[in-house]
Amino acid sequence: MFDKQTIRDVNIKDEIVLVRVDYNVPLEQTEDGAWQVKSDLRIRASLPTIEYLRERGAKKIILMSHLGRPEGRDESLSLKPMAEALAELMQGVSVDFVDEISGPEVVAAVEELPDGGILLLENLRFEPGEKQNSEDFAREIVESIGATLFVQDGFAATHRAHASTEAVTRLLPAVAGFLVEKEVKLLTQALKAPEKPLVVIIGGAKVEDKEPLIEKFLPIADKILVGGKIAADGYVPKDSKVYVAEDFDEDGEGNKLDIGPIATGKFVEAINDAKTVLWNGVLGKVEDAAFATGSEIVAKTLGEKHDVVAIICGGDTTGFVQELMEDDPDLEFALVSTGGGAALELLTGGAMPGIEKLWKSE
Ligand code: 3PG
Repeated sequence: MFDKQTIRDVNIKDEIVLVRVDYNVPLEQTEDGAWQVKSDLRIRASLPTIEYLRERGAKKIILMSHLGRPEGRDESLSLKPMAEALAELMQGVSVDFVDEISGPEVVAAVEELPDGGILLLENLRFEPGEKQNSEDFAREIVESIGATLFVQDGFAATHRAHASTEAVTRLLPAVAGFLVEKEVKLLTQALKAPEKPLVVIIGGAKVEDKEPLIEKFLPIADKILVGGKIAADGYVPKDSKVYVAEDFDEDGEGNKLDIGPIATGKFVEAINDAKTVLWNGVLGKVEDAAFATGSEIVAKTLGEKHDVVAIICGGDTTGFVQELMEDDPDLEFALVSTGGGAALELLTGGAMPGIEKLWKSE
């Protein structure tokens, strides 16, 4: 299910490791105007790789990521808050931030870093070379750092052919981190060799985004259940395997904002019969608690069922499930994917340039 080398397969000791993470996470502004991390799912998800690299004696660990879609430098999209959030999670470990991506300041910051220390570079997208997949830009980073090994662990950005995901793999030995390995393995398994019955739950708002996923899983899934706005807007199934929510909870103006009790019952019944469930897209307007019931029941049924491989993907769905997990730590899922677009791309057979060029396993 995963044919690339990982950090388990290569020497880590004394290497200067350049790690692509995806810290493109939501921020919020504090009362004094500073920015802080609102959801740290992706930062937490990078910890197993970082901890392993430290345990195995990496000399220095340099992290790089993008944030948002800036056109040039934009201080509101600095990665400094992510370094602060990471430092909180890695108590006792030196976590530094440098507000440059390459050049003399980066050279100095790397030099000052103690052995086993972590340094986060500034937002890669402040430089046009990142999105242009410029090898020169990737080389500037690699040379400023003196990197000897590249680790791809930013799963959420692996569908992008950018300097930090693709060009860099031409310059250094390139292997996967644990997050990329786990995401690719579980998503690929759902697609190619799922434990059956396989149930796919689709929600969300845009039919054009979800149709390819429904089509892809039609020959594979035992059942596909559709809720969310696409069901409320009258999605018409093309196969008897597809069940579209038949009743809805409405607001005072008759807007269908959540799946209703009959549909919720059908979703629960299907989950109870399943061995693998892939869920993409919330089933109602979950930001309004009154219309989060359908999604909440589905999430709890899945999270409490321990004989099912439950895979949650899509930004809204994972955010929703993560909040429930914070309130109820007993909820367990095989994978709460960190990749919105990347997971969709992988599941629908799109290109994954950030993974394809990693070293193949023997
Ligand atoms: C994401 O949040 O899906 C990834 O970080 C990729 O971001 P992008 O769509 O701006 O490339």
